[in-house]
Amino acid sequence: MKALRIHEFGNPSLAVLEDLAPAEPGPGQVSLRIEAASVNPLDLKMLAGHMRQVFPVSLPYTLGTDLAGVVLQAGPGVARFQPGDRVVGRLEPTAGGAFAQAAVVPEQALSLMPADMSFEQAAALPTAAGTAWLALFGAGKLQAGQRVLVHAAAGGVGSFAVQFARQAGAHVVATASARNLGLAEELGAHEVIDYQRQDFAGLLRGVDLVLDTVGGDTLERSWQVLAPRGAVVSTVDFAVKPRGSQAGAFVFFQHDAEALSGILESFKAKQLQIVLDTIHPLDDARAALEQVAGGHARGKVIVRASH
Ligand SMILES: NC(=O)c1ccc[n+]([C@@H]2O[C@H](COP(=O)([O-])OP(=O)(O)OC[C@H]3O[C@@H](n4cnc5c(N)ncnc54)[C@H](OP(=O)(O)O)[C@@H]3O)[C@@H](O)[C@H]2O)c1
Repeated sequence: MKALRIHEFGNPSLAVLEDLAPAEPGPGQVSLRIEAASVNPLDLKMLAGHMRQVFPVSLPYTLGTDLAGVVLQAGPGVARFQPGDRVVGRLEPTAGGAFAQAAVVPEQALSLMPADMSFEQAAALPTAAGTAWLALFGAGKLQAGQRVLVHAAAGGVGSFAVQFARQAGAHVVATASARNLGLAEELGAHEVIDYQRQDFAGLLRGVDLVLDTVGGDTLERSWQVLAPRGAVVSTVDFAVKPRGSQAGAFVFFQHDAEALSGILESFKAKQLQIVLDTIHPLDDARAALEQVAGGHARGKVIVRASH
């Protein structure tokens, strides 16, 4: 099978497609034929070696965490899946392995895909939608009627966060560049701000929750728009802390197949739009990494395996 691997840390040009022998599933594991994977900025951070303290890996390392595919073989003791099942899940970043034709995955990491969901749509979900959910309703404790500011509303996390917040009955303000303002509205934003032309900090006050997926100056200016008991939840800055009466927290995503199943239910109920940007073949997966590195993906960038 083909797998996109690195032998040293650095930039996407170091990722090479190599032929490996497929592994057999052990107890509690299934082997998958991978159909699609999605790219997350985390993959680039793993590639660069920036996550070594949090997610230690040994080289060579196969990139990619979010995947969807078909169960080939169930290992001893696997109860929930059988060959032929269409599944979606997330590999531990320390293990990696989604940008490949096959993988061996613990069954707890997987959920069954809805019948009318494509592999590309499924692969888009685990990290981005899971993080949006955790940030809004875990760390952010978002309630109906509150005002929430979602930064980078056209990105992977943001495109899901806008929808979840709107469905939860919040008033949603979203930032995006001009070409993505319409998309943010379509996803459910009540107000949109072009971050390249307008200063959101000068326009907003009384925001109960800011979801920061950008960091730096965007994070710093976000404090100015908060209500006295508001909260900033960042997916980017580990060092965010409360400031006086205002809460501040970093959210650290950990995959939970049960939470993903809840998100899949909202797709079945036709309440979830999955925005896909470019679908790259596995043979050109490096281009997918480069696209995400550019910082302007619209929804999710996908790697499609062929067999
Ligand atoms: N802590 C965790 O567990 C965790 C989990 C998931 C993600 N993350 C992190 O969260 C960040 C976002 O992830 P993602 O998957 O959503 O990334 P992404 O999909 O690559 O985000 C791309 C989007 O960012 C927008 N953008 C860029 N600069 C912006 C700015 N200054 N203001 C508003 N929008 C801006 C772009 O919109 P335009 O094209 O319109 O400019 C683009 O749509 C990454 O750093 C990622 O590593 C952390």
